[in-house]
Amino acid sequence: PTRPLVDPFGRAISYLRVSVTDRCDFRCVYCMAEDMTFLPKSEVLSLEEIDRLASAFIRRGTRKLRLTGGEPLVRRGIEDLVKSLGRHLKSGDLDELTLTSNGSQMARHADNLFAAGVRRVNISLDTLDADRFARITRWGRLPQVLDGIAAARAAGLKVKLNTVALAHENAHELIDLMQFAARGGHDLTFIETMPLGEIDQDRVDQYLPLSTVRRQLEQRFTLTDLPHRTGGPARYVRVEELGLQLGFITPLTHNFCESCNRVRLTATGQLYMCLGQDDQADLRAVIRRTSSDADLDAALDEAIARKPKGHDFMIDRRGARPAVARHMSLTGG
Ligand code: GTP
Ligand code: 5AD
Ligand code: SF4
Repeated sequence: PTRPLVDPFGRAISYLRVSVTDRCDFRCVYCMAEDMTFLPKSEVLSLEEIDRLASAFIRRGTRKLRLTGGEPLVRRGIEDLVKSLGRHLKSGDLDELTLTSNGSQMARHADNLFAAGVRRVNISLDTLDADRFARITRWGRLPQVLDGIAAARAAGLKVKLNTVALAHENAHELIDLMQFAARGGHDLTFIETMPLGEIDQDRVDQYLPLSTVRRQLEQRFTLTDLPHRTGGPARYVRVEELGLQLGFITPLTHNFCESCNRVRLTATGQLYMCLGQDDQADLRAVIRRTSSDADLDAALDEAIARKPKGHDFMIDRRGARPAVARHMSLTGG
């Protein structure tokens, strides 16, 4: 690109995460309250607007684009958007177009995603127990998600499973999930629960530090550190006994902000420079005001100049901080 986006700390922005809808067909207990008010449609970017913004980032050096939500596959027209964005893969301007999904609708989308150029998807899976799955997601059906995972594989997509580690829900199931992932040939990443938005549970009570999990796994398995590969926040190890690639996303026990390469666009066109901060730039206002790419470029420069050094999430016995008021579903994790 002619003018790559580089922040004041010298971090080049090469990864854009786009939430295409704040809606979701699940209500995971660590993500949403049961009773959620979703955005009116008029607030939400059109598919053309999303395309315009994503393409502007690609012009400025974004090499990896991830669609998230909410649940991206509940957005009407998502396949057209993916197909359209796929042109940047063909032209060589983008290395990876991918999605983070809850898997519930994956079975009917997988073939089209592959055809559009998607090669990898991340699917959330916190448990292999159907009752617990229904409790964590509040009504999700596990078999539907397992079918989605299988369909993704059958379509030729590489699957990474994401598991949020929860002290009283799945702590004792983490090894089962590792075995499940290894059997299916999937990668797996454990994620520390982060304090975003009001939920109905106590975050301190649910918090399971992954430093502890890793120590426990080391008693039983040989973990070999792997080089950083995906450009995402996970640090990967190979679990030798299982032949599994296992990632750890540890914003609380091991801060990775210094290597941050990403920003997030919400479904309403707000650009968040950090998952754990409230500062944002209203790019929707810019593109609804003008069709000038120069003005949009200037808005991108101004936003990236404000990217903060990092988050200050914290969960310990004294509580959870900061209560970033917005929910994870607004920025897609
Ligand atoms: P790959 O490495 O490409 O597979 O992607 P990824 O791990 O970046 O993407 P994914 O959507 O699977 O992200 C998993 C979770 O990591 C997100 O839902 C967030 O919870 C967390 N995460 C991603 N980026 C950040 C970040 O910049 N800061 C923090 N604190 N958490 C992040
Ligand atoms: N902390 C950590 N991860 C979360 N996710 C949703 N809410 C939280 C949270 N509070 C995860 C989901 C999914 C990804 C998009 O974000 O499990 O894997
Ligand atoms: Fe939906 Fe994902 Fe949030 Fe669960 S974590 S409610 S699947 S957006």
